[in-house]
Amino acid sequence: MDALSPEEFDLNKDAYLERIADLHERRQRSRIGGSEASRARHIKRGRMLPRARVDALLDPGSPFLELAELVGEGFYDGVPPGGSMITGIGQVQGRHCMIIANDSTVKGGTYFGATVRKHTRAQRIAWENRLPCITLVDSGGAFLPDQENIHPDEHHFGSIFYNQVGMSAEGIAQIAVVLGPCTAGGAYIPSLCDEVVIVRGQGFMYLGGPELTKAATGEDIDRESLGGAQMHSSVSGVTDYIAENDEHALAITRDIMAELGEEAPMRWTPKPSKPPRLDPNEIYGLISRDARIPTDNREILLRMADGSEFREFKPLYGETLVCGFARIHGFQIGILANQGVFFTEAALKGTQFIDICTKRDIPLLFLSDVAGFMVGREAEVGGIAKAGAKFVTAMSSAAVPKYTIVTGGAYGAGYLAMCSRQFKPRALFMWPHSRIAIMGPEQAANTLAMVKRKNFEADGVDWSAEEEEAFKAPLRAEYERFADAYNFAANLWVDGVLDPLETRHALGLLLDVAARTPIKETSFGVFRM
Ligand code: COA
Repeated sequence: MDALSPEEFDLNKDAYLERIADLHERRQRSRIGGSEASRARHIKRGRMLPRARVDALLDPGSPFLELAELVGEGFYDGVPPGGSMITGIGQVQGRHCMIIANDSTVKGGTYFGATVRKHTRAQRIAWENRLPCITLVDSGGAFLPDQENIHPDEHHFGSIFYNQVGMSAEGIAQIAVVLGPCTAGGAYIPSLCDEVVIVRGQGFMYLGGPELTKAATGEDIDRESLGGAQMHSSVSGVTDYIAENDEHALAITRDIMAELGEEAPMRWTPKPSKPPRLDPNEIYGLISRDARIPTDNREILLRMADGSEFREFKPLYGETLVCGFARIHGFQIGILANQGVFFTEAALKGTQFIDICTKRDIPLLFLSDVAGFMVGREAEVGGIAKAGAKFVTAMSSAAVPKYTIVTGGAYGAGYLAMCSRQFKPRALFMWPHSRIAIMGPEQAANTLAMVKRKNFEADGVDWSAEEEEAFKAPLRAEYERFADAYNFAANLWVDGVLDPLETRHALGLLLDVAARTPIKETSFGVFRM
């Protein structure tokens, strides 16, 4: 690819910095939590705000990789992005764990559909990576108006319990801290944990609160006697440790984390981490600001790799898929990055590369920026369907940890082939400008207009160019809206939107976590020859 002119580079960079400012504004809205009044009431009750709780729990100065920060953005009236919950991977007592914290300043910490999916996604990541789960419970249970997205199906509230039980059975520690009034589902979550801490005078647990109890049985009872810390820790045995306040509860939790038994051994030996030799800040200027002009993804990956060192595999063959070996924060990784559409040769090269990485237990990183697979007579006759199938078989079967970053426009089967959500990468993030869709807005509008025109012609109906444009404009707009990274983040179709400069650190943390998971043998599906 030709090098960018300094003018183009600067224009790209300015455009990208605006996107980064927008990302941070959205995150800020999510980080504030509930309304000012609700936060003030929370503090007046002598309780710590959820982010302060997470900070107090984590080892000082250790990184925290927040997940699904922008879930539900714009979905519910008066509810900030984040789905009334904080989830992320952090370190407690030097050990990585998954932290799941209700934010009771947002609708009493109740679970919307988005919250349930955020909780179960965090559990999925914890399970795959064998991360102990610490749940800071402060929730009124289900957000009652949203029951269709909470109650009936797989991945709804009941799945939280299923995941807790499954993880506990596999020896993945489940710890809960009851920091507020926890009703119904909010009470079952701690009840299904290995060890539970509860705060005196603040934490309550009951399947039905005093009002519901009165309505159901006529019994008059205060919340302390029905589900307070003293009763549960000395009579019912539902909780194990009493804390005097939030700080004390989090200190007890840190003590529990020190007693989890031996950590699993590392499956890889990382080298000392080296910053990239080429300045990562240049990524902003390298990303094309015009979706029609491709980005040179080889230049991008060099700015993410340790020392900017990349040993490229088969550099002269199948050039539209760059494959090769690098390290990220000392961990070896096999990178596959698009450099144009998939041709047969690129798919075959990628298949061979994935096979090599699985044999060597090297994790895979997919940098996804692809319009799809080549179409046309030449490609079909050359067996592109067969070659694409080989690549998908290799990618899907590979049992090494896989990670996907959407660094550009990921469309159609190209998106799927580059380890989309359906192929269960351990994490999938998008960059702020990136897009995912079945096809681009113009192509979708043209395809549908072509079908319509053919039908009109068959019926002898006239369809003017103006009418066609009026038909296409809303389709284009809808495709633009859909493909946006923030739409994917709001729906939790991805684990979040990352600043390109954060990506290397996020991957380093994820590889460090995966290093303590057992090796799984890969068994490939049949390769069509
Ligand atoms: N579903 C929907 N909305 C709920 C809710 C629920 N289960 N529980 C609370 N809310 C809403 C409230 O209507 C209020 O909304 P607003 O901010 O628009 O006024 C907001 O959440 C905060 O509730 P509030 O009662 O003012 O706050 P609180 O901190 O004093 O108490 C709870 C929080 C959760 C302890 C309390 O609201 C409660 O007991 N809720 C009922 C819990 C329940 O029975 N759940 C059963 C689920 S199966």
